Amino acid sequence: MDASPLPLLTLIPFLLLLPDIIRSHTPTVSVRDFGATGDGKHYDTSAIQSAIDSCHTKQCYVTFPNGTYLTATIHLKSNVILDIPKGSTILGGTKLEDYPKESRRWFVILAEKASDVGITGGGVVDGQGSEFVVKFDERKNVMVSWNHTGACSGDECRPRLVGFLDSTNVRVWNVTFTQPAYWCLNIFRCRNTSIHDVSIYGDFNTPNNDGIDIEDSNDTVITRCHIDTGDDAICPKTYSSPMYNLTATDSWIRTKSSAIKLGSASWFDFKNLVFDNITIVDSHRGLGFQIRDGGNVSDVTFSNINISTRYYDPSWWGRAEPIYVTTCPRHLNSKEGSISNLNFVNITVNSENGIFLSGSKGGLLRNLRFINMNLTYRRWTRYEGGSIDYRPGCQGLVNHNIAGIIMEHIDGLDVENVNMRWIDGRTEEWDNPLEFRPSTVNNISLLNFRSGFYPEKGYFDSK
Ligand SMILES: *[C@@H]1O[C@H](CO)[C@@H](O)[C@H](O)[C@H]1NC(C)=O
Ligand SMILES: *[C@@H]1O[C@H](CO)[C@@H](O)[C@H](O)[C@H]1NC(C)=O
Ligand SMILES: *[C@@H]1O[C@H](CO)[C@@H](O)[C@H](O)[C@H]1NC(C)=O
Ligand SMILES: *[C@@H]1O[C@H](CO)[C@@H](O)[C@H](O)[C@H]1NC(C)=O
Ligand SMILES: *[C@@H]1O[C@H](CO)[C@@H](O)[C@H](O)[C@H]1NC(C)=O
Ligand SMILES: *[C@@H]1O[C@H](CO)[C@@H](O)[C@H](O)[C@H]1NC(C)=O
Ligand SMILES: *[C@@H]1O[C@H](CO)[C@@H](O)[C@H](O)[C@H]1NC(C)=O
Ligand SMILES: *[C@@H]1O[C@H](CO)[C@@H](O)[C@H](O)[C@H]1NC(C)=O
Ligand SMILES: *[C@@H]1O[C@H](CO)[C@@H](O)[C@H](O)[C@H]1NC(C)=O
Ligand SMILES: *[C@@H]1O[C@H](CO)[C@@H](O)[C@H](O)[C@H]1NC(C)=O
Ligand SMILES: *[C@@H]1O[C@H](CO)[C@@H](O)[C@H](O)[C@H]1NC(C)=O
Ligand SMILES: *[C@@H]1O[C@H](CO)[C@@H](O)[C@H](O)[C@H]1NC(C)=O
Repeated sequence: MDASPLPLLTLIPFLLLLPDIIRSHTPTVSVRDFGATGDGKHYDTSAIQSAIDSCHTKQCYVTFPNGTYLTATIHLKSNVILDIPKGSTILGGTKLEDYPKESRRWFVILAEKASDVGITGGGVVDGQGSEFVVKFDERKNVMVSWNHTGACSGDECRPRLVGFLDSTNVRVWNVTFTQPAYWCLNIFRCRNTSIHDVSIYGDFNTPNNDGIDIEDSNDTVITRCHIDTGDDAICPKTYSSPMYNLTATDSWIRTKSSAIKLGSASWFDFKNLVFDNITIVDSHRGLGFQIRDGGNVSDVTFSNINISTRYYDPSWWGRAEPIYVTTCPRHLNSKEGSISNLNFVNITVNSENGIFLSGSKGGLLRNLRFINMNLTYRRWTRYEGGSIDYRPGCQGLVNHNIAGIIMEHIDGLDVENVNMRWIDGRTEEWDNPLEFRPSTVNNISLLNFRSGFYPEKGYFDSK
């Protein structure tokens, strides 16, 4: 090679600018040109919709100049990117008549059967979630329910924030989603979705305030996201078809539920999922599987994950488990799905409770691998421990001593280079590093597994 490095170095700034250059050639329409006020008081719905509907070109940016745009449901179309710059906010309406008739279409921003669509710009989409709270409660807020309409039942009857349904080539990047009333970002039956540099701020006390729910979708990438919310942060589910190829990396999560949860809707298979370089703080559960409806899970890898889990009020599912893998069937007559080929590599845990691995007779956990893990256990909240949590369905919340790793209905678990450190001496509910019975747990291998007591300085002095 005799070429000087100069050409490459001069190429790099050009490559970095490339998106902006492409962008500058993409037609942009402003919602102001269609009469939007951006005053946060008058509804700008029809102006925004007209701007979107005016796009007939290959790709089109619809931009929101500095302002707050109150709106009923906006319908995104193929080839349209919503461009919400820093300083601008799309504000979702809080009235039932702001949303379409069918509850499955209750979103502030909705794309259906669209391709090459997205949202970006650095600005904010705000669902005004606090307007949906009937009673604020630090344990769990009581929320409005629009179930009297008959559009949906129970207490999960509120609008979501942003939805892409039956769509392809979806891109959501550089945008903040705040105060969803219910789920935040929903990807349903999509192909080729990229979600990156997105911040999600839900309410820590609001039930069903999920971060990203990915259902029945293939080829999804989530990266560089920041999710701080009450309910499950990244939640793959299967209702009507299997899910393949989901990757989530380089993200930060705080939640009063599971940081990552497969299920509980799990009617079809999940396959080829990768979670890497994720920090989970102050959460009720770290990596969770609630496989309840007969779908099978296989080939899932978690690597380079730092998890801190603690107890919260037991009205929320979760008992501080850093890792939670369960397949008990939802009802007596539900099918049993199995889980196989799970890898957990390079995992750091600081937790108030241990790992819970619980298959079922017809839904075994097969070929699990725990490699390079530091598990540090100590209690720091005053919530009661000493129970194991099979919810939803199954045996519910059961009084039972907890352990470093509880195992039931497993065939094949390799534990290698796993260090379990016990910091405090409250052993009345922490009586056991490993709990399993050969009648339900088969083929366990422990290689370089340690468990030891590491009292903090002064522990024995204060006794
Ligand atoms: C955007 O609008 C806000 C309030 O309407 C105002 O305070 C701010 O100066 C505006 N910023 C720009 C860049 O126009
Ligand atoms: C996000 O958008 C803002 C404009 O509002 C821009 O200045 C910033 O560079 C963008 N960030 C990324 C990571 O694209
Ligand atoms: C509607 O939701 C409310 C609030 O969660 C609940 O109390 C009520 O039982 C529900 N009613 C129906 C008909 O589902
Ligand atoms: C996936 O979607 C992106 C837009 O987000 C697009 O650039 C890319 O070409 C798509 N890939 C395929 C294989 O269609
Ligand atoms: C995802 O892939 C599976 C397996 O090929 C297929 O059955 C399913 O229909 C695909 N889903 C979508 C939304 O393309
Ligand atoms: C999943 O990814 C693999 C490898 O990239 C690809 O061959 C396969 O078609 C993808 N499956 C689906 C259903 O998209
Ligand atoms: C891990 O993700 C963080 C963002 O959460 C990022 O700053 C860091 O560079 C990533 N580390 C690696 C090794 O990619
Ligand atoms: C799960 O695997 C079992 C055993 O192979 C199979 O009978 C069942 O149909 C699978 N479930 C689904 C949803 O494909
Ligand atoms: C894990 O995260 C905690 C903060 O939550 C931090 O103190 C600790 O250094 C991290 N450990 C590793 C190995 O990244
Ligand atoms: C686990 O960590 C080691 C040491 O930091 C690193 O060499 C290895 O690539 C990591 N493994 C994975 C799967 O990321
Ligand atoms: C576990 O701790 C040891 C010693 O403190 C350290 O060398 C190793 O990198 C840690 N591994 C992980 C996955 O954090
Ligand atoms: C035991 O499990 C290991 C991997 O977890 C697998 O390779 C091996 O075949 C299993 N042995 C038996 C007898 O099932």
